[in-house]
Amino acid sequence: MIKVELNPSDQYIEKAIEGYDVLEGREGAGNDFLGWLDLPEQTPSSLVGECEAIAQEWKDKGVQVVVVIGIGGSYLGAKAAIEALSHSFDSDINPQKTRVVFAGFNLSEEYHAELLEYLQGKSVACIVISKSGTTTEPAVAFRLIKKHIESIYSKEEAASRIVAITDKSRGALKTLADGEGYRTFVIPDNVGGRFSVLTPVGLLPIAVAGYDVRKMLLGASDMAKLCRERSAKNPAILYAAARNEQYAAGKKVEILVNYNPKLQYIGEWWKQLYGESEGKEGKGIFPAAVNFTTDLHSMGQYIQEGERMLFETVLSVKNTNKELLVESDEQNLDGLNFLAGKSLEHCNKMAELGTRLAHIDGGVPNMRIEIDRIDEYNIGELFFLFEKACGISAYILGVNPFDQPGVEAYKKNMFALLNKPGYEEASQKIRERLQ
Ligand code: PA5
Repeated sequence: MIKVELNPSDQYIEKAIEGYDVLEGREGAGNDFLGWLDLPEQTPSSLVGECEAIAQEWKDKGVQVVVVIGIGGSYLGAKAAIEALSHSFDSDINPQKTRVVFAGFNLSEEYHAELLEYLQGKSVACIVISKSGTTTEPAVAFRLIKKHIESIYSKEEAASRIVAITDKSRGALKTLADGEGYRTFVIPDNVGGRFSVLTPVGLLPIAVAGYDVRKMLLGASDMAKLCRERSAKNPAILYAAARNEQYAAGKKVEILVNYNPKLQYIGEWWKQLYGESEGKEGKGIFPAAVNFTTDLHSMGQYIQEGERMLFETVLSVKNTNKELLVESDEQNLDGLNFLAGKSLEHCNKMAELGTRLAHIDGGVPNMRIEIDRIDEYNIGELFFLFEKACGISAYILGVNPFDQPGVEAYKKNMFALLNKPGYEEASQKIRERLQ
């Protein structure tokens, strides 16, 4: 069970309860995108079963690599969960496991060329995810991977190795999937990309990677119950209140801190969730994420003594899944015998505590969210907690959490520069500007 150590004032608890009322009342801005609130408790077992069946089918077929194609909310949740749950040296330790790799989240030629090199000689399948079905990055990557798969297998076999997850009726991906006879999953109309990890967008890749998505949904569902409380007992209310209080006090940047590299992509998912939901109308807490103790040797100096605009939320893990003690050494040349018999995790926890105290002393307010351990249940809890708090928090800020109008600006320029049909006028303007 997640424990939150946050102490917002009564005034900010009140504000968060107002935000909660807007969210739960389903009357706020963007209220046609609230389907994610019901996913933990209302996802049909049959839908989970379909994801598990595809995972099993591909495993039985000997699929070695599944390429998951998507960007933003269409890949970060799955990536975060899989990274958190996997062995740090998975490919060497579990060589027989189906590998899940990601593509379509950048336009790097090197990345995609190297991915194609990596796929050579391997048994491959693909999950292509795009809610709009029109996003350039995943569409480009899918064109490459589709060609690759079709070059190895018959048309029919290729189609059985591709699953599309997209809108129920619109978009190029839907048209393509229908035309090619791919199996499809629908991203519900009322669930936006960054809130979609508990739909097949997250469930299918996570199941294919070999993890128990039913446990993840159970964790999310238990958290959804807790987050229904209309009081300071609700961890989402507490977190939304505490971070908005810091923001109002001039702390414009929130750093999500972990002490376990497996949580790095939880930080990336969280950054997208909060960045896209809150950063608009000239407002919003800037979400940053660091991995400690690693980044104490890069960002630590700034956090301790740089501009005082930061606050930290430490994502702490109570119990480790592995045990490793520091052993005593007769010669003690490294002077580490004072640690003999202590677990590495104890050292890590002392690093966490010591860092928190140092940062508090340095003017960086600290909050702490503790999960019991890294497993499917706790990751499910965490996903839902952060989503719910995000909705409340954005309503406290007074912005619509569920749109992302600012994302269009770069696309417009990119399409103009690439001479996309329909962008002729914009192409001319942008070229004049660049002369
Ligand atoms: O949260 C969001 O809505 C975005 O980050 C989208 O997930 C991202 O832009 C990808 O969009 P799509 O799934 O339509 O390709």
